[in-house]
Order: sequence, then C-alpha cells, then structure tokens
Amino acid sequence: MAADYTAVRRLGGQIAKRMAEQNDLEGAKSLQNLLRKRGVPLQASGYAEALPRDAGSRLPLIEEGQWPTTPIMLGGDAGRTISQFIEDAQHIGLLAEKGVSARLGLLLYGPPGTGKTLLAGHIAASLRRPLYVARLDSLISSRLGETAKNIRGIFEFVPSRNAVLFLDEMDAIAKLRDDRHELGELKRVVNTVLQGLDSLTDDVVTVGATNHPHLLDPAIWRRFPYKVELNLPDEDVRASMWEHFLFLGDDGRKDDGRLLARVSDGLNGADIENIALAARRRAILSNQDSSLAHILLAVGASRSGNPRLLDNRELDTADKKTLTRLLHDKGGISQSDIAKIVGVSRQMVHRYLKETLDG
Ligand SMILES: Nc1ncnc2c1ncn2[C@@H]1O[C@H](COP(=O)(O)OP(=O)(O)O)[C@@H](O)[C@H]1O
Ligand SMILES: [Mg+2]
Repeated sequence: MAADYTAVRRLGGQIAKRMAEQNDLEGAKSLQNLLRKRGVPLQASGYAEALPRDAGSRLPLIEEGQWPTTPIMLGGDAGRTISQFIEDAQHIGLLAEKGVSARLGLLLYGPPGTGKTLLAGHIAASLRRPLYVARLDSLISSRLGETAKNIRGIFEFVPSRNAVLFLDEMDAIAKLRDDRHELGELKRVVNTVLQGLDSLTDDVVTVGATNHPHLLDPAIWRRFPYKVELNLPDEDVRASMWEHFLFLGDDGRKDDGRLLARVSDGLNGADIENIALAARRRAILSNQDSSLAHILLAVGASRSGNPRLLDNRELDTADKKTLTRLLHDKGGISQSDIAKIVGVSRQMVHRYLKETLDG
C-alpha cells in the first residue's frame, strides 16, 4: 500500500516460489513475468526505486534478481558447503555474540553453465532476502575514474537493504589489464572492490561468481571465507537433471534418464536444460513426443561441440551410425537395446559398429 516496490517484488517472489513448489509451474511463470515488468502503476504513483546508475550511460549498476523457481542440482561437496554457509548466515547474530562469526562472503567458481547465477538466487531465497545483482563487466566504464565510482556506488547501496549482494562475472576486473586502460586503473579498481568488501558489516551476505578464478586478484580471493567450486555435473546429477527438465519427475522414465545421463558426460546443466526444453517444445508443437533417438542425437552433437537442431525428422543412415556408436561407447546397453532405440535390426547395429570403427 505504501508503494514499496521492493516489498511487492519480494512477496510476489515468495508466492511464485510456493506455486512452483506446489507444481503450478505455469502460474509461477506468469507471476514472475508480471513481477519482471518494471512496476508501471507503482512508478505512476510516484514511487521509483532509486537504483545506482552509471553516470555516462544512465544504465542501472545493480538489478534486483528474482528468486528462482527451478531447483538447483548439486554434487555432494558443493551442496554441503552451501548448506553450511546458509546455516551460518541464519545464525550470524549468535555466532557474532560468541566471537566466532566469519564474514558472510561466498565465492562460486567453475565453468560456465554450472549454476552459479542460479545458486546465488537460491541462497537469497533460502535466507528470504532480496537479491541484488551487480555484473562487474557492466560496471567497467570507458571513462577514466568512472569504474571505481560505480563500484563504490554499489557497496554504498546494498548495506541498508538486508539483501544478498551478488557480484557476478568478477574476473571482468582482470580484463582492465588490456591496453585500452592505463596500468594504474586495474590497481585502483581492485582496491575499490577490496575497500567495498571490507566496508560491509558482518550481516551483509555477499556472493561472488567467476568462470576464471585464476584471473582473480589473490586479495579479493581471500576476502571470501567460503568457497565452492561448481564442476560439470557427474552422472547422478545429470540423471536428476534429465528427470527434472525432460521427464518432469515421471518415475516411469527413470531408465531413460539414466541412459541419457551416461551419454551426456561433459555437458553442463544449461546444455541439458536446453536440449530438454527443445524436445518438449517440439513435442507440444508437433503433438508427438520427441523420440529418445532424436534427443540422444542432440546430446551427441552437443558433446562434440556442434549443437544440432532438435527436430523430429526421420533419421538418415549417418544419424543411425552416429547414434549406434554413441550408445555402444557410452550407453552401457546391449546391442539389441541399441537396435530398438535406433530402429534397426541387430545385424544392422553390428554392421554400423564395424563400419564406424573402420571409418
Ligand atoms: N546445477 C544445476 N542445477 C539445475 N539447473 C542448472 C544447473 N546448472 C545450470 N542449470 C540451468 O542452466 C541455467 C544457466 O545456469 P547459470 O546459473 O547461469 O550458470 P553459470 O552462472 O554458472 O554460468 C540455469 O538457470 C539452470 O536452468
Ligand atoms: Mg552466471
């Protein structure tokens, strides 16, 4: 009623999350879409959230992120560190009283598409705090001195919000090392980030993310007492991803999920989600489920770095050979099962295998 935009979005996010948990995915999505529209009625009522902006471009330096509605799937070690971090954050008052609090800084590092950005949202949701996202690459201004000012703007904005500050793409700072920038600027910017981190009170939760931890300045690295490496998903995690994104938790498809998990080593969570969604889109628009063969082919193509359009067009001989080889090398299933999936005779599987070995 007081046109508190942040509160509306936070409550809306909570409701969307609950809808998603109760399997109303459509409802959750449309509520989220509504929330994502920059509250015109609220702004018309005279309220506009004053986000810090870049002086030159007038683009916001920080954005309010959404609480996610899709689950995050993590391997054992990462999951345990995250739970501990959340537990420590929830009891920071007690820990501080006993003199054993640590700075609530968590650094997520690892290859792209492994869920770092998604995880930051989950942490904010678990703590029931708003998420403020600052992408370091977008803070870097071509105007001398402006970058450090932008960074200070963020660290001044966040403490009053009882929020999670998410510093995404932290390695962008290191790109200042290039020739367009004078050498002193990198140092100045690193120092500004360090000062910003040091200025935060103990109750501010900071999550940083980077795909290139080795590019990160060691002093920045040390400012994050909690560190979690997000790796490419292992077979068990991949199986959960296929079950969730493709089969929507249908228990009858567990074997297919396991098979897809075995052949999809090297793919990240984003790859798996993309293939699964493409298959579901085709199924809806063509009124017919994508065959396992087509999905497996898309997986094989993505593994070899040549993503292939997932369509329901009939397989040609080259497709059948590729698929047979993939299932034989990675699938761990019998030749007669391969024959069933590819849609050829067992003799043909035998022949394809011989041919692909020779070729
Ligand atoms: N571990 C994971 N669990 C669930 N979904 C994932 C995971 N990793 C990636 N995804 C999917 O891929 C999308 C992109 O991942 P993202 O968080 O942007 O990765 P990163 O920030 O590490 O590059 C996510 O929004 C999610 O839908
Ligand atoms: Mg990311």
